[in-house]
Amino acid sequence: MSALSTDKIVAVVGSGAMGAGIAQVAAVAGHTVKLYDTRPEAVAKALADIAKVFAKLVEKERMSAADAAAANARLRGAATLAELADAAMVVEAIVENLDVKRGLFAELEAVVGDDCILATNTSSISVTAIAAKLRLPQRLVGMHFFNPVPLMALVEVVSGLASDAAVAASVFDTAAAWGKSPVHAKSTPGFIVNRVARPFYAEGLRLLNEQAADAATIDAVLREAGGFRMGPFELMDLIGHDVNYSVTQSVFNAYYGDPRFTPSVLQLEMVNAGFLGRKSGRGFYQYGEGAVAPQA
Ligand code: NAI
Repeated sequence: MSALSTDKIVAVVGSGAMGAGIAQVAAVAGHTVKLYDTRPEAVAKALADIAKVFAKLVEKERMSAADAAAANARLRGAATLAELADAAMVVEAIVENLDVKRGLFAELEAVVGDDCILATNTSSISVTAIAAKLRLPQRLVGMHFFNPVPLMALVEVVSGLASDAAVAASVFDTAAAWGKSPVHAKSTPGFIVNRVARPFYAEGLRLLNEQAADAATIDAVLREAGGFRMGPFELMDLIGHDVNYSVTQSVFNAYYGDPRFTPSVLQLEMVNAGFLGRKSGRGFYQYGEGAVAPQA
């Protein structure tokens, strides 16, 4: 198997921050893309947001008007899962919950053809566990993009115990054809990046809890002196505290409660308050009207 040819249809299930980005990248690469979400308004928003991104790229002369129009025309909303029947690959980017993901893939298997590749954008859940309930578990691999998808080159192609090496190779080649820099990884909790990144967030949150400095100062130190592109607080605000918290919980549980991965009560409270970061207008910083820019 090699990269999915551009005459094949790609379906993206979940039209939030990640799903919209994945759909954009696949459409720019030449695929017809069908976007589905249980909330139709999320699909409408994703399509409108992508059109806005294309308009900006045209304005900045980084994309031709003809290419933007063609990519836009390749993007379709789907109102039901049944409409994804002709997809050659489905990329799932829904809520980070094993049972919900398993439920979705069970429904998908009843809809798509047996040769359809199933990919999950999970940040931390075992790919082996997601695949275990499938009729054809060998066809599922992780295709883990990073936020914001159109700008971040890395894609972790994650194989579970049952994943077919040829399917992983095809997803790897497809990510490369989409302009990404894929790497192969085995299904371990948090894979590569989300495993190594846990202490980055955890120590930032501990420093804040101990009132060593405020969030903006810690972010500025790591950005300006540490050489990180973003500090932990602005990055958590970008990722979304709900998503980041559930990733920490999943890595913590998978390592039998290893204290190094203990989730932060402070972050739990952010989730409880609905202060999810950029997507809700408030996290450690304020966004939109009266915004407090995440810079010290
Ligand atoms: P999000 O909350 O922005 O979007 C999730 C979307 O999935 C929502 O629109 C929701 O309505 C929809 N959804 C929920 N259950 C569904 C179902 N059963 N069927 C269809 N649609 C459903 O979340 P986000 O940030 O886009 O994350 C999605 C996935 O990508 C998660 O697994 C997350 O861990 C992973 N991820 C997130 C990253 C991030 O930085 N936010 C980075 C890499 C991976």
